[in-house]
Amino acid sequence: MAMKHVATPVLRALASPGSSTLTRHLHASPGSNKIVGVFYKGNEYAALNPNFVGCAENALGIRDWLESKGHKYIVTDDKEGPNCELEKHIPDADVLITTPFHPAYVSAERIKKAKKLKLLLTAGIGSDHIDLKAAVEAGLTVAEVTGSNTVSVAEDELMRILILLRNFVPGYNQVVTGDWNVAAVAHRAYDLEGKTVGTVGAGRIGRLLLQRLKPFNCNLLYHDRVKIDPELEKETGAKFEEDLDAMLPKCDVLVVNVPLSEKTRGLFGKDKIAKMKKGVFIVNNARGAIFDAQAVVDASASGHIAGYGGDVWNQQPAPKDHPWRYMPNHAMTPHFSGTTIDGQLRYAAGVKDMLDRFFKGEEFPAQNYIVKDGELAPQYR
Ligand SMILES: NC(=O)c1ccc[n+]([C@@H]2O[C@H](COP(=O)([O-])OP(=O)(O)OC[C@H]3O[C@@H](n4cnc5c(N)ncnc54)[C@H](O)[C@@H]3O)[C@@H](O)[C@H]2O)c1
Repeated sequence: MAMKHVATPVLRALASPGSSTLTRHLHASPGSNKIVGVFYKGNEYAALNPNFVGCAENALGIRDWLESKGHKYIVTDDKEGPNCELEKHIPDADVLITTPFHPAYVSAERIKKAKKLKLLLTAGIGSDHIDLKAAVEAGLTVAEVTGSNTVSVAEDELMRILILLRNFVPGYNQVVTGDWNVAAVAHRAYDLEGKTVGTVGAGRIGRLLLQRLKPFNCNLLYHDRVKIDPELEKETGAKFEEDLDAMLPKCDVLVVNVPLSEKTRGLFGKDKIAKMKKGVFIVNNARGAIFDAQAVVDASASGHIAGYGGDVWNQQPAPKDHPWRYMPNHAMTPHFSGTTIDGQLRYAAGVKDMLDRFFKGEEFPAQNYIVKDGELAPQYR
């Protein structure tokens, strides 16, 4: 997999003026490679399920395989601050595996220190925790396991839509606190049937969600930079909305399914939220920073947003005083929709497959590349 000498328009657009582009050849070092993985800690749960491969202790289930091939595999959950375990291993790592669920922020500074690094693999989908511009400039290859947990997320989004509309969380809370007050929950509980649901982003997850919503007899809308197949439009009945601002006031439920990029960071601030229907329900399992955190808090307090649900935060782990923990009518959880056991097994297999190809000098599946030969994948542009 030889690295081209890159001077593409995309690269030129991304590189800062005067920066020199290094190219690092994407082939494994002869002999032993140092692979560093950063995953969330499993603690007492690590041994409870042999398929719980996503935690640091179980290390994607690839330790024996890597070590049998003579490679060194360092796995940690310690990723913050100048003295963390990750910092110690950055300078001589050949490959760094990270995950969105416990994001090790791969900053430009870290990339500069990683003199031997060639490959950044994301165990899951969403590589926004990596400074992709710096990765382009350093000639690195970045790849994720595209499609690995799309079903996991689409199912979770459907669940959150229902949880919000049916006012499930306050009802559940009544039960565990010994209360019984039907009126307190029923006065704002709705059916999903007949509601207008719009997805911002109709890529892999957005499309799976539209298919899953079809039997609920909603009015389905979608906004994306590209239209979905006419076949799928027909199957789901979803209507394309070219202008996002025109779609927002129509939606009873808005779901976000775009990656976090320079174009989508802070996309939903005070102004865009004001364009939404009063009483809108929002589900965001894409990335927390696509919304302005304070604007969500204010609109939830005023009732403009009737309920906000998702598993992604602008800071992860979310601090104890994060205002989204205390908003009325929210359905927030830690980031776990894409790390179901089924999702873990799929992204672990995808990481293993790409490492195997890397050692053999073979190409990865084309859809997995996020940065390749100095070019950023279209969904991040
Ligand atoms: N919460 C989780 O556990 C979890 C798991 C997986 C993925 N995700 C998030 O979901 C995102 C989407 O995943 P996917 O597999 O559907 O990705 P995808 O690449 O298949 O789809 C993304 C879609 O967004 C569209 N898009 C990008 N920028 C846009 C813009 N500025 N305006 C309009 N449309 C735009 C693209 O055209 C594409 O159709 C990921 O990037 C990730 O951030 C979250």
